[in-house]
Amino acid sequence: MTATPTLLDAAGKVAFVTGATGGIGKACVDMFLGAGASVVATGRRAVANDNARVLKLSLEVTDEAQVADAIAKTKARFGTIDYLVHMAGMVGKGRLDQLSLADWRTVVDTNLTSAFLLMKHAYPLLRKPGASVVLCGSSNGANGGSHLSGAAYASSKAALVNLTRYAAKEWAPDGIRVNILSPGPVDTPMLDRLSDIQHEGLKAQLPLGRYATAAECAGGVMFLCSAHASSMTGTNMNVSSGLVLDR
Ligand SMILES: NC(=O)c1ccc[n+]([C@@H]2O[C@H](COP(=O)([O-])OP(=O)(O)OC[C@H]3O[C@@H](n4cnc5c(N)ncnc54)[C@H](OP(=O)(O)O)[C@@H]3O)[C@@H](O)[C@H]2O)c1
Repeated sequence: MTATPTLLDAAGKVAFVTGATGGIGKACVDMFLGAGASVVATGRRAVANDNARVLKLSLEVTDEAQVADAIAKTKARFGTIDYLVHMAGMVGKGRLDQLSLADWRTVVDTNLTSAFLLMKHAYPLLRKPGASVVLCGSSNGANGGSHLSGAAYASSKAALVNLTRYAAKEWAPDGIRVNILSPGPVDTPMLDRLSDIQHEGLKAQLPLGRYATAAECAGGVMFLCSAHASSMTGTNMNVSSGLVLDR
């Protein structure tokens, strides 16, 4: 009987993960560790993981100096980054006509500008064949979203898809692949803000009838980082329980 092939063999590789204190980011950290990687796990809150292969860093992803410092600490500890996985993100809320400029900027900075900062500063460590970047979009980036997450969220997640395409082209000669995972509703703390009625309404829109799990999203990230996806760059992986089908 042959053993089940491992999706990702990351022994000796280094993954840099943002949002590691959240649902999907934590699942990515756990799977990278299971695949043999060393992991730089970042969040604003303290990362809870005592594995010796984990470097825990406090990181506000909108702050360029903090991003540069986190990359410098990664270089000092591991010397390289093989996988940059940017899962940190936040939702907004409410109607566009009631959205303040400050709240718009906070969401755009957290979701979109952060990706630019991380990619810019990680590039020297990523620059080698086999390196992989995975950003995090959303079904809202494809279908326009709603007041439940707000205009800045939908707009920033759509922009990340095109940042993915841009970087995929620019960095292909270096051998760096760049892809984005776009979940629909995922059973993580991000959805705790919704009422029971809102949960029911959301689930009713899902052909599969249930939210994705953080582990299912992390599995998609592992695939995108793996040799199975060697020919994939600039792609948008749809993990939306069937919510987004027509695009
Ligand atoms: N859950 C869903 O239904 C869903 C659907 C579509 C897309 N997504 C996307 O999936 C990604 C992960 O979300 P999740 O579901 O895992 O949500 P989550 O459990 O709420 O986690 C969010 C993560 O983002 C981090 N974060 C937020 N703002 C940050 C900042 N300014 N600087 C540094 N870190 C920051 C949080 O860190 P701290 O808590 O330490 O501050 C936390 O680790 C996000 O990009 C989200 O937009 C989620």
